Amino acid sequence: MDERARRASGGRDKSRRPSATGAASLDPAIGETLVPADELQGRVRDLAGEISRDYQGRDLVLIGVLKGAVLFLGDLMRYLEVPCEIDFMAVSSYGSETDSSGVVRILKDLDASIEGRDAVIVEDIIDSGLTLQYLLRSLRARNPASLEVCALLTKPERRRVDLPIRYVGFEIPNRFVIGYGLDYGQRYRNLDYVAVLENRGG
Ligand code: IMP
Ligand code: MG
Repeated sequence: MDERARRASGGRDKSRRPSATGAASLDPAIGETLVPADELQGRVRDLAGEISRDYQGRDLVLIGVLKGAVLFLGDLMRYLEVPCEIDFMAVSSYGSETDSSGVVRILKDLDASIEGRDAVIVEDIIDSGLTLQYLLRSLRARNPASLEVCALLTKPERRRVDLPIRYVGFEIPNRFVIGYGLDYGQRYRNLDYVAVLENRGG
């Protein structure tokens, strides 16, 4: 069953694991599907394969950026074939609802030190890049053995700073997207696919 048929059926496809997607798909704010669930899973599995090859015999700690990276991190770590630890940071970026200012506040810091360890920041989406720029500065100052970035999505058209992003899931056009961790007003994070937000502000 393809994604459209599955959504039209209210998500009642017994071959897929249960999710809240069915009921939520009736919401008119959920627009065109940009990345269907099976494509997400396939790409996340590939990224985990790359990371597993690159981090063999190393001391990997995945740093999930709350809250958007929760689903991505959860799936990514399941597919990894190397040992890893996870830790989380929560940051809030000052600015309007749609544009971050680059002034970032740490709401929750890491539980443990990353000094001498191989850290990978796991982010949902890189938009202007300002939030990530701040995170990279803050984490580099803690002297990890290495520091890389793994982002599920990037919007290259929106980039304001050039940053080294080692692992990228999908490049997407300049649209506001929801699902698979990404929210609008804290909702829609539980969709198992990425969709365009419809009629924002209209
Ligand atoms: P940046 O500092 O402009 O790169 O903003 C990055 C943060 O803005 C991401 O971690 C998301 O939390 C949020 N964000 C940017 N674009 C989107 C989007 O299309 N949907 C949902 N959140 C987004
Ligand atoms: Mg985020």
